[in-house]
Amino acid sequence: MNDRMTTPWGELALTRFPEDPRDRLRAWDASDEYLLRHLAEREVPLSGTVVVVGDRWGALVTALAAHGPVQITDSWLAQEATRANLARRGVEPGTVQLGTTQDPPPERVDVLLVRVPKSLALLEDQLLRLAPAVHEGTVVVGTGMVKEIHTSTLQLFERILGPTRTSLAERKARLIFCTPEPSVARPANPWPYTYALPEGIGAVSGRTVVNHAGVFCADRLDIGTRFFLGHLPGGKGPQRVVDLGCGNGVVGTAMALANPDAEVLFVDESFQAVASAEATYKANGVPGHAEFRVGDGMAGVPAGSVDLVLNNPPFHSHQATTDATAWRMFTGARRALRPGGELWVIGNRHLGYHVKLRRLFGNSQLIAGDPKFVVLRAVKR
Ligand SMILES: C[S@@+](CC[C@H](N)C(=O)[O-])C[C@H]1O[C@@H](n2cnc3c(N)ncnc32)[C@H](O)[C@@H]1O
Repeated sequence: MNDRMTTPWGELALTRFPEDPRDRLRAWDASDEYLLRHLAEREVPLSGTVVVVGDRWGALVTALAAHGPVQITDSWLAQEATRANLARRGVEPGTVQLGTTQDPPPERVDVLLVRVPKSLALLEDQLLRLAPAVHEGTVVVGTGMVKEIHTSTLQLFERILGPTRTSLAERKARLIFCTPEPSVARPANPWPYTYALPEGIGAVSGRTVVNHAGVFCADRLDIGTRFFLGHLPGGKGPQRVVDLGCGNGVVGTAMALANPDAEVLFVDESFQAVASAEATYKANGVPGHAEFRVGDGMAGVPAGSVDLVLNNPPFHSHQATTDATAWRMFTGARRALRPGGELWVIGNRHLGYHVKLRRLFGNSQLIAGDPKFVVLRAVKR
């Protein structure tokens, strides 16, 4: 696979994270190239504080490293990819500031480059957080694939920052040009969003869920998660439990409420998700002990140290449908479980997770099913 992106500043070798030689997906797309071409051809002044939001795998900040940009991302995987891509280019650590969507925004932004995220809510939240730092002279350019840029996307720029227009499409990518008007009456930031759970879903019935912008099913309980909550294992006593891919933390919080002696580790690769899980846990005054960790699946969890893993795996990765993450999560869970430990998985019936579990664990039991979802249990022998 060609892993070299041609930019106005030379060729860059770029990879995603974790690196997988079988991965056919590139670490950049036509919208990254379009933005970089525009900046070079129009000689856009890249001085002052250059902020890059939503850079998928670090292509933008790696290309612009000479301008000491600040990267703001929700994704731990994106941040790790960026670190590796910068190192490959020989960029000194610290040249590019690697920030997250949870960090306080910079005080002043002179150039704001936005790779439009998949989640409109995350875009809304980030623009609202950055708006006070944007001034009349700030250059604001967004980029994305045509299919990712909707009228609602442009309306967000317009409502939060100022007058907005788009470029012609080139290779199915489009740019967004926004002229900041600091006097624009900005709406209040609706994030994080808190809602009450319905009754009849076990330990978290009627409880509170806190969602930072961009987390999975941020404005209502996902129907798959709801089904999972109705069929969680009922063990009591000291147990080391992992809520793997915790999102807003509703599953791990349910376990902690049902079994106050359990120790729950909440893991997600999204900074927004882990912040949500911690807020959900705290909002419910759960007794017991919990840990909140941003990272890649079960990486870093010692082998044989866990009694129970609960997992509702993702099946989208930045627009691409993939089951590679689910496979990595199951493999990591198997390694981290003690003999006799269990992995409980909820998934769409058609995804056929039982095949993967059988291949890895040698067993897979159907705990519950409806026409759409199945809850499966695999035991580490
Ligand atoms: C389908 S959502 C489930 C969220 C939550 N557990 C629920 O049931 O509502 C899958 C979650 O996995 C997270 N995720 C994706 N890739 C991951 C990875 N490599 N490591 C950890 N979490 C990941 C996503 O950010 C997302 O929050």
